[in-house]
Order: sequence, then structure tokens, then C-alpha cells
Amino acid sequence: MPLNILVVEDSELDYELLVATLSREGLRPSTTRVEDETGMRDAFAKARVDAVITDHNLPRFDSFASLKVAKSIDADIPVIVLSGEMSEDLAVASLHAGADDFVLKTRMFRIAAALQQSLKAAGARRDARNAVAALAQSEAKLHALTQHLESAKEDERRAIAQEIHDDIGGALTALKFELVRLKRTVRDAGAQPHLDSISQLLESAVVASHRIQHALRPAVLDAGLVPALEWLARGFGERSGIQIDFQANRDEFEIAPDRAAALYRVAQEALTNIRKHANATHVHMQLFALGNEVTLEVQDDGHGFDPASLQVTPGFGVNGMMERARGLGGWSEVSSSPGRGTTVMFSIPPLLGQPAIEREAE
Ligand SMILES: Nc1ncnc2c1ncn2[C@@H]1O[C@H](COP(=O)(O)OP(=O)(O)OP(=O)(O)O)[C@@H](O)[C@H]1O
Ligand SMILES: [Mg+2]
Repeated sequence: MPLNILVVEDSELDYELLVATLSREGLRPSTTRVEDETGMRDAFAKARVDAVITDHNLPRFDSFASLKVAKSIDADIPVIVLSGEMSEDLAVASLHAGADDFVLKTRMFRIAAALQQSLKAAGARRDARNAVAALAQSEAKLHALTQHLESAKEDERRAIAQEIHDDIGGALTALKFELVRLKRTVRDAGAQPHLDSISQLLESAVVASHRIQHALRPAVLDAGLVPALEWLARGFGERSGIQIDFQANRDEFEIAPDRAAALYRVAQEALTNIRKHANATHVHMQLFALGNEVTLEVQDDGHGFDPASLQVTPGFGVNGMMERARGLGGWSEVSSSPGRGTTVMFSIPPLLGQPAIEREAE
């Protein structure tokens, strides 16, 4: 494909010299000469332009203006400034303004090499830009997929909880009634201890079924975030024997249900990690609304770990927190060092469409 070069030049003579020089150097581009902004815009609209060579001194225009026009149409296009005057300041200013090269008309023989070099540099710029765009696109897809998975998981859990409630819960309640009736009718004293033990087993099955239902369908979706986290903390303390206190700076948070569920799931994962990895004796969990962010902080006094190790062996837990936070327009951070406990922060805007306040870089 021949190169299409747009030449911004008022002098017909200089234009011919330029074309002749290019062809002497073995380049036979197709060239178009224009003299002003309208000419440039028309040329860009008519055909593909691979590079712009612009005279510096134009009657109605100068190279800074033509550079601006070219870059506004195609940010990566190579632009070479041709100048009749030898000025270092002008050369530097042109390069700062985004020109790829600066060639003196008295040294026109440089133009072919400058053009080839600039085309290569522009190609690299384009590739880099495309790579960044492709990366951003695939990240966006990943976020969307994660969000989708999270909500699908939440739906699935809700459905299972409902089944347990309706089927197993119903059957257990019916069994309890039947057992009471049986106890009344059976007179045999030897049977009573067995009936009592059945009754106890039944009671623990009811408790287990409630526990499973709660874990699957967090009370957060019914009772609100604060009671749900209180319930989670209480259960964690009882089952793990680790002391835990929970504080919230409000009784109620105005928060979208999926965001409340995300905070709850992160608290669940942070507590699971403490049980699995931390060897802690005390956990401090806080929920607070500040500005346009709701933040969960879970702090333990365990043996901590080196967060750099997450690069080597990433778990799904911590990664999931980061991914969730990003997907919801917030941020998450796990800070820890060996011997000094671990703190998990997870902060999101409570309602859709309210971006979190940008954090200052640390
Ligand atoms: N509270 C903590 N105390 C000490 N180490 C922790 C704590 N939380 C996380 N870690 C460390 O960080 C690692 C990554 O945690 P992450 O939750 O991502 O993965 P995991 O718990 O190992 O596996 P899973 O994918 O099941 O969550 C853990 O393996 C552990 O070494
Ligand atoms: Mg984990």
C-alpha cells in the first residue's frame, strides 16, 4: 500500500523539492498538498493519511497549528516539521508540541530517514495504545463476569436456602409435632429416654438447618447489614473461641442490597481467613459510613503474613475482595506484616452510580 503523505506547504516550489527528495531516497508516496486547516481537514476526510509533513511558516497558519489539527484527528499520526529557519528553540518547541521530527529545508536530504523513523515510532505508539485499550477491555469484561458470577452465586444460595426452609424445615417441624404426640401416647417408661434423645437430635437438626439457611442467605438481606454482621460475629466467636467485638457508627445504613451482601461476604471471608491462618486471640470488626463510602474493617492480632506472598500464591479470598471492590467502584486493602496481625479494609459507595472518592496515592 503506498504511503499517503499530507504536506502542509504554501510554496509549490518547496513542495516539488520535497517530493523529488523523497523519491530520490527511494520513497514514492502519494502526496497531497494543502495550505490551511480547511485543506487539512478535507484531506483527512477524503483519504487515509499516514503522515503529515508541515512547513513551519505558513501565511495563514504555522506548524504548531497544523500539528494540533493533525493530532486532534489522529493522536498517533507522525508529524514532521519542515523549517526554513535554523532555530534550536523552534525545534525543541516543535518536539514538545508533539512533532516526531524537525527537519531544516537546507538539510532536506534527511527527510526520508526522518519520515521512516517517525512512521516506526507512530506504529509503536499505536500498538501501545491498542494494547492498553485491549487490556482495559478485557479487565472490564473480567469485572462484568465477576459481578455476574457473584450475583449468580447469591441467587443460587438463596434458592438452596429456600428449598431447605420449605422442604427440610417443613418436615422437621412436622416431625416435632409427631414426636410430641408420640410421647403422649407411648406409656412404656423404657421408651421415654429414647424419645427424649430423638427430641434432642431433632432440635439440633433444626438448629443446623437454621444455621445453614443463614449462611446461605445472610440475614443481611432481611434484617439489615448491622444485625447480620452482629450475628456473624457472634457465631464466629462461639465457634472459634476467638474474642470478637463489632462496632458500627450507625444503626442503619442506606445501602443497595447487592452492596450489603458484598460487605457481608467480605466480612465472612475475612473471619474465615482469621480462623484458618491467623492464630489470633482477638478480632475487632467495624463498619462505618464516611462521606460517600461504607467501609468494613476487620483487624486481628494474629501472626500476620507478608502481603508480597500473595503475588506468588494468590488465594481466591483476598483476590475476590479486591475484585468485588473494583467492580462496585470502591477499593480494598489487606495490610499485614509477619508478627503484627492483619487488617482487611473494604470500602464501597453504598449506592449504585456514586463513585467512591478517589483515594490519594500512598
Ligand atoms: N488474617 C490473616 N492472618 C494471616 N494470614 C492471612 C490472613 N488472611 C490471609 N492470610 C494469608 O493470605 C493468603 C491468601 O488468603 P486468601 O483468602 O486469598 O486465600 P486462602 O484463604 O489461602 O484460600 P481461599 O481461596 O480458600 O480463600 C492466605 O493463604 C494466608 O497465607
Ligand atoms: Mg481465604
